[in-house]
Amino acid sequence: MSIEYSGGEPKKDAPRKRKPEKDAQNKEKDREVLLHPDLHSEDDAEAGLRPKTMAEYIGQDTAKGNLAVFIEGAKRRHEPLDHVLLHGPPGLGKTTLAAIIAAELGVNLRKTSGPAIEKPKDLAALLTNLDENDILFIDEIHRMSRAIEEILYPAMEDRQLDIIIGQGPSAASICLELKNFTLVGATTRAGQLSAPLRDRFGIDLKLELYTPEELGGIVSRSAGILDVPTEPDGAIEIASRSRGTPRIANRLLRRVRDFAQVTGDGIITKKAADDALTRLGIDKIGLDEIDRRLLTGIIQNYGGGPVGLETLAATVNEEAVTIEDVYEPYLMRQGFLSRTLRGRCATRRAYEHLGLPYDGDGDQLSIL
Ligand code: ADE
Repeated sequence: MSIEYSGGEPKKDAPRKRKPEKDAQNKEKDREVLLHPDLHSEDDAEAGLRPKTMAEYIGQDTAKGNLAVFIEGAKRRHEPLDHVLLHGPPGLGKTTLAAIIAAELGVNLRKTSGPAIEKPKDLAALLTNLDENDILFIDEIHRMSRAIEEILYPAMEDRQLDIIIGQGPSAASICLELKNFTLVGATTRAGQLSAPLRDRFGIDLKLELYTPEELGGIVSRSAGILDVPTEPDGAIEIASRSRGTPRIANRLLRRVRDFAQVTGDGIITKKAADDALTRLGIDKIGLDEIDRRLLTGIIQNYGGGPVGLETLAATVNEEAVTIEDVYEPYLMRQGFLSRTLRGRCATRRAYEHLGLPYDGDGDQLSIL
């Protein structure tokens, strides 16, 4: 099995000089990337911690259990696996799962992303280079253009690639027969996929935020790989402040390791983890300054809500999509935020967590 990247390799920005007036803003961004996985390009460091087999993969028991059955079925019938859609918040292991699917099937994985497939010929090159039963992984599949989607439909359904060669009067339409393949699409926004595309995935798996116990297992496993002595309580302390997200847990583990090695005896105890995470501005349940600004913004500027997403985004100076995809899932999971028909509302628990007096009626009609 091999893994190849195509087009979709995250482009690394050349280092740029920071303008002095931008420094405060950039410091803020540096803190954000620590906690919010999709604001950070894929780490090399993270790659070494990824589980390579289903047996090593902790959590997502429902998705994992069902997937194991579908993989076994496809193997027994000597057929390609049906196309798979993986959706859920960033950092939960969609890419990892795609690599595991390929490993379990014993086929190659070719990775790209929706925005990287700019022209029909980009998709044609990807599809025609696949070997029998290979996996094509398209990250952020919701960002693929409609024109590309339309080429993908017959490829997914009938292994047909219809493309136009040449330009002007000499242009000709040709139809190529493709090998069997499985498309694994990943998205943080399943609702943005067009119905025809979504319908062509035979397997639809939703990944959920991890429990602190599952994340504790992941932190202990990663600490073992990194060879950092970590007490179980230390692992749980990091896990419970990692917003249900393995990528954040692994990143925080590396930062806590720095503090433990530089300012302590190198062992990650509960206290060492607590001290380091407190210094990083991450509170007891994993909220950072931006989460707190979001909640206090709703409470202090809009009487606890409801407030529309765009208005809230402008208030806290963040993109609306970032608020929706990155911040809200965990705030809702913690019961701090509700999405109502008229906008976002802070809950009584949010007031209590922030130590602010609650005077709302708690009578908001939640839609999610
Ligand atoms: N590292 C990142 N995600 C993981 C998972 N789900 N299980 C084990 N290790 C991981």
